Amino acid sequence: MADAETISFPQNRTCPYDPPAGYRGTARERQPVAPARLYDGRTVWLVTGHAEARALLTDRRLSSNRENPEFPLFARRLAETSVRRVELLGLDDPEHNVQRRMLIPSFTVRRAAALRPRIQEIVDGLLDAMVRKGPPTDLIEAFALPVPSMVICALLGVPYEDHEFFEAQSRRLLRGPEPSDVEEARDALDAYFRELIARKRATPGDGLLDELIADRLETGEIDGEQLVRLAEILLIAGHETTANMISLGTFTLLRHPDQLARLRGSEGLVPSAVEELLRFLSIADGISRVAVEDIEVAGVTIRAGDGVVLSTSTSNRDEAAYPSPDELDLGRNARNHVAFGFGVHQCLGQNLARAEMEIALPALFDRLPGLRLAVPAEEIPFKPGDTIQGLLELPVAW
Ligand code: HEM
Repeated sequence: MADAETISFPQNRTCPYDPPAGYRGTARERQPVAPARLYDGRTVWLVTGHAEARALLTDRRLSSNRENPEFPLFARRLAETSVRRVELLGLDDPEHNVQRRMLIPSFTVRRAAALRPRIQEIVDGLLDAMVRKGPPTDLIEAFALPVPSMVICALLGVPYEDHEFFEAQSRRLLRGPEPSDVEEARDALDAYFRELIARKRATPGDGLLDELIADRLETGEIDGEQLVRLAEILLIAGHETTANMISLGTFTLLRHPDQLARLRGSEGLVPSAVEELLRFLSIADGISRVAVEDIEVAGVTIRAGDGVVLSTSTSNRDEAAYPSPDELDLGRNARNHVAFGFGVHQCLGQNLARAEMEIALPALFDRLPGLRLAVPAEEIPFKPGDTIQGLLELPVAW
């Protein structure tokens, strides 16, 4: 399926909030499902159309199973790993559904709403500390990372005092750069959670982990290693992603002062603004699957064994789905974006992530009306294309 025009995936963004121009290709511009080449030369199908992404994400002929040797990976550090099995995210139904059903009650709209007062308290406390310390500061360290990190710790029952350890290990697990970083980070997190679970078995607390220990581990429904890995996924997915949305969302609003002014003027706009930021930024840009049967889609045949990579950023900028897709428009209806994926694996934490963003972003701009970048925008470093997208630092003043 490849030829000289085949584009490569992943590519680095040139602007931290826009998809790499290269994902749309040149002569291939309008092909919603087209060949792309991975880091190791392997060819996969890159999905950039919105309708095609939604259709494929609900297609049971595509598998999330990372133990399948054909499963497409984005970097050497991910391929050279001793453990291929990934709980929940990397399982197909019916096994996936068993784990998902265990967790759903803790991530409903109602549970996220019940957490709002606690999230507000965390946000206010962090803003107080920023004001006390005074500008300039790195917004990621002072606000964007601790908000979701404290929230997921409270939800799981993980001590926040350990945040420097688990944030550093998450960074290594997601970004390497070496395969050994990934291995060591996983080993360190495994050891941490084995010990935490043992402590909790002796002295139960009242977090989700404690519930899973009592209701699922002690009953033999899952084993200790599965619980360790599930806890890791929840902890990492629960803080890395939302932290990037808060910091990159702030940066994007500061770069679009007209939209920021709209947001400041209207509390009612907050939910649609958050949805539009999710669409516009698409920080989880590259959802992988492997075909287990042949699939005809958009005029091509995906064969069993082919890798499929869905670029959420390009699908969310498809003009067939959104008029003027490259414009940030906080008032538009962006609700059916694929920034949280779609289908059976659609983000479990989406209600929680929305609650955190809906509270954190307006509170930040209310409390610090003079918020601005402390260095020129071009100097702000951002993450490479082969991981969750976002900024590496966000120096601000007010
Ligand atoms: C704005 C922030 C977030 C974004 C953009 C995001 C994005 C995504 C995406 C795209 C998927 C689908 C992956 C796939 O289909 O292979 C996903 C799944 C998942 N997310 Fe999120 N996520 C965010 C926040 C969170 C939070 C706060 C949690 C809290 C624990 C979380 C937990 C999960 C879990 C457990 C899955 C796997 C679900 C399954 O396989 O059934 N995410 N997320």
